Amino acid sequence: MRNHRRRFQEQNRQDVSPAKPGSGFWPAGYFTLSAAGLLLTGALLSRSLAAGPPPVASPELLSQTLSALAQGPQPARVWTNYVGDAACLPCHQAKVDAYHRTAHYLTSSWPTRDSIHGNFSEGANLLLTRSTNLVFKMEADKNGFTQTAVLRVSPSEVKTHGERFGVVIGSGRKGQTYLYWHHDRLYDCDELFELPVSYWVERGTWMNSPGLLEYPDGTANFTRPITPRCLECHTTAFDWLDTAGNRFNKYGKTNLVLGITCEKCHGPGRDHVAHYQSPSPPPAVGAAAMINPAKLSRDRQMDVCALCHAGFGTMLVPSLSYKPGDVLSNDLALTMPGPDTPVDVHGNQVQLLARSHCFKASPNLTCVTCHDVHQPQRDIQAMASSCLACHQITSCGLFPKLGHVIDKQCVFCHMPLQPTGKVEAISNGQVFQPKVRNHQIAIYPDVRLP
Ligand code: HEC
Ligand code: HEC
Ligand code: HEC
Ligand code: HEC
Ligand code: HEC
Ligand code: HEC
Ligand code: HEC
Repeated sequence: MRNHRRRFQEQNRQDVSPAKPGSGFWPAGYFTLSAAGLLLTGALLSRSLAAGPPPVASPELLSQTLSALAQGPQPARVWTNYVGDAACLPCHQAKVDAYHRTAHYLTSSWPTRDSIHGNFSEGANLLLTRSTNLVFKMEADKNGFTQTAVLRVSPSEVKTHGERFGVVIGSGRKGQTYLYWHHDRLYDCDELFELPVSYWVERGTWMNSPGLLEYPDGTANFTRPITPRCLECHTTAFDWLDTAGNRFNKYGKTNLVLGITCEKCHGPGRDHVAHYQSPSPPPAVGAAAMINPAKLSRDRQMDVCALCHAGFGTMLVPSLSYKPGDVLSNDLALTMPGPDTPVDVHGNQVQLLARSHCFKASPNLTCVTCHDVHQPQRDIQAMASSCLACHQITSCGLFPKLGHVIDKQCVFCHMPLQPTGKVEAISNGQVFQPKVRNHQIAIYPDVRLP
């Protein structure tokens, strides 16, 4: 168990700062193009084209590798008793239809013309970089969609490296990042890596993938592995082929359940569906009763959202172990920063809300006081009604001065949109940061209505 834990902590550290190629943990058998370091590029490129097995570093690793080969890839955890959203349709059709338009459901998908928001038409399909020697080209043909880095290494020589879009991450509300599959010949299984070019909605263009360290302008990095924690937040389920515990981005290609589906928040549905299919069933109990988060204590309700809205944390058990209703802190160690430590607005809604006077002074306030996660909600004026369940318009300190212009604007001033420092991308020397709604409900004296 101790080893087990250490391994998940190891895996987690990689979430926060992915290993650089050649840094020891991650073998440099993958592809990096750097316009700044052409000599280095040549060496990496030839290694990448060889695409051989990862270098075996130590006797310990060798014995792990051999025992893994003897066993073959094993799923780290099997996702059982889950039936998928189609099984809910006959009895909850309105909920399913509305839910399937939400960012949660659309947060990951297979690549198609519709799911990829970036433009493949001639001219719009290029991403220029700071270096005139490196461009990226996005192409669509009958076999799928590809991203190719084209590097001019000398006036007469051009090197290219292309990978196919394998998975789309992000509903496209702010942006999308794309993953590709690499077949690992040694283990005969598939690995997921991030592609270097993402799509940014605010600019309506292709952009370098976020991460100033991982994706500096003028480089083509195809080496960033996709960890289980990334998929835990952005998909429903996957088979993690944790072969020898020393590689963490191998997944079963066919068992990946994309999008966040009903059972991620309600628990496995097999018994529930079977129960209600029988004629005039008695009220469901035990496993046949789905978990309704509204019936859980406030802490357990917050846990359902905190799995994904309280930062990366440190996994203490394998990904996908947590089920709604469980005590999340047994599975995931989250950072709860002190009252004066700055918290980034991206992905930390739980910590920020917990700091608000509204939350501290209202024992029943949770995320679902304001959010109905079963349908898209984007209208901040309509959402002001959730404030008015507890407040009067006239109790706003600005009411005497501004009057009824503030009526529907509570969210605009008290939960302002702020840039995140966690998601940054650089393109042509300019740094871009998306804006996220700050969930610390408070007084922000500098915010003015437009
Ligand atoms: C054959 C019909 C049927 C199917 C299929 C079905 N349900 Fe239900 N479900 C019901 C009925 C009837 C109720 C209301 C009775 C109850 O609260 O137990 C219900 C209640 C619920 C509740 C509320 C439970 C509570 O305690 O408040 C949730 C959540 C739920 N279903 C989710 C799902 C999900 C998710 C699926 C698909 C995996 C699904 N249901 C499939 C019939 C069905
Ligand atoms: C701890 C959970 C968590 C992990 C891990 C995580 N994300 Fe996210 N991600 C979120 C949440 C929550 C949001 C949206 C809310 C926000 O911005 O605060 C988001 C937003 C995004 C978006 C923007 C979606 C849109 O359309 O606006 C992209 C793209 C994205 N993540 C990609 C990734 C990738 C790629 C990884 C792994 C390398 C990853 N995320 C890891 C939780 C996570
Ligand atoms: C992101 C988490 C999440 C997802 C995904 C989700 N739900 Fe829920 N669901 C909740 C929460 C929280 C509640 C309790 C608060 C509420 O009613 O909105 C709830 C309540 C319910 C209820 C009982 C209350 C009612 O309105 O009848 C049903 C039934 C239900 N969900 C069905 C579904 C179905 C079907 C899906 C998939 C189409 C789904 N849910 C997806 C979080 C989720
Ligand atoms: C399995 C991970 C996961 C869980 C559990 C989860 N979320 Fe999310 N949530 C995400 C991700 C990822 C996004 C960003 C989706 C995107 O745009 O691609 C998101 C987006 C959202 C959004 C923005 C939706 C929009 O249309 O822009 C809201 C609101 C939200 N979540 C609320 C909740 C609440 C409330 C709960 C708990 C009941 C919850 N989430 C549970 C992962 C999760
Ligand atoms: C469940 C009830 C509830 C909801 C919903 C709610 N609040 Fe509050 N809010 C409170 C309580 C209780 C306090 C604390 C009052 C006090 O300390 O006197 C508070 C305090 C505040 C404060 C003072 C904050 C400070 O730092 O001094 C502001 C501003 C505020 N709320 C705005 C809002 C806005 C805007 C919304 C909607 C986005 C909202 N609240 C939603 C209950 C709520
Ligand atoms: C133009 C921005 C703006 C809008 C819109 C706005 N507020 Fe405020 N609000 C403020 C500021 C600034 C203060 C602090 C004023 C002061 O104390 O001088 C404040 C104070 C408050 C307080 C704390 C009062 C106290 O005495 O502690 C509450 C509660 C509040 N607002 C609620 C609301 C609600 C509810 C709405 C929507 C109906 C709203 N506000 C709309 C800017 C705004
Ligand atoms: C007091 C009301 C309120 C509460 C409580 C609340 N939210 Fe929100 N949330 C909002 C409003 C208003 C928006 C803005 C809607 C929009 O712009 O789409 C929002 C937006 C979001 C977004 C999208 C952020 C972005 O900028 O893209 C996420 C994610 C989210 N909420 C998650 C949560 C989670 C998780 C919780 C519980 C920890 C929570 N919210 C609690 C009011 C609330």
